[in-house]
Amino acid sequence: MQEFDWKNNIENRKEKEALARKMAQRVKNGEVIGFGSGSTSYLTIEEIAKKVKQEKLHIQAIPTSKIIENLCKQLEIPTTTLQESQLDWCFDGADEVDKNNWLIKGMGAALYREKKNLKNCTENYILVDDTKFVDFLGQKHPVPVECDFEKIETIKRKLEELGAYQITLRMSNNTKQPLITDNGKVILHVHFHKIYEDYEEKIRKIDGVLESGLFINYPLHIITV
Ligand code: A5P
Repeated sequence: MQEFDWKNNIENRKEKEALARKMAQRVKNGEVIGFGSGSTSYLTIEEIAKKVKQEKLHIQAIPTSKIIENLCKQLEIPTTTLQESQLDWCFDGADEVDKNNWLIKGMGAALYREKKNLKNCTENYILVDDTKFVDFLGQKHPVPVECDFEKIETIKRKLEELGAYQITLRMSNNTKQPLITDNGKVILHVHFHKIYEDYEEKIRKIDGVLESGLFINYPLHIITV
């Protein structure tokens, strides 16, 4: 899953840069920080790297995708894992935020590790520009569902029982084949007329589903410009 080019064509770049600067200010020596994926996270990591160099800080990152792992290597930020270290705090972007602070995430296909970090941390910052706020979840984006390719037909039927009305397989921009995630899975893009509170749990329980991009009732701080 090395096809996302977060350096170029960043929408709302100015706002995202402002969010990145805001987040970088929080960094303190000795912290273990969860690094999200996507363009907002990318800009934030660059800001953090600058601060770490200037102030000679020592931090460790728990990255949420291979792309972000590589970025950490390039920027000389040491990485660790959830097995080895306890997170002090995490930051990440989001695709949609509703009035309950429920999220859709994962348009960067990194939702599995993004959710793992969030679940293992009580101080989570979600960085969003104005375009991310919606009246209801699903207004602008489908829900990404990461799953086993061999099981997609039965998974689709189960999702339809929950009210899904349009389900497509996410394709890779580069190869024109189904996109393969860092976990060796594929992603279904799923549209719902309405998303209920128990959908995250219900989707996860479907046989063959690894995780969905629904983030419902997590302890989050929503950070705006
Ligand atoms: C990555 O898988 C996502 O969850 C991103 O956090 C989300 O897609 C937001 O991306 P941008 O920061 O690029 O808007």
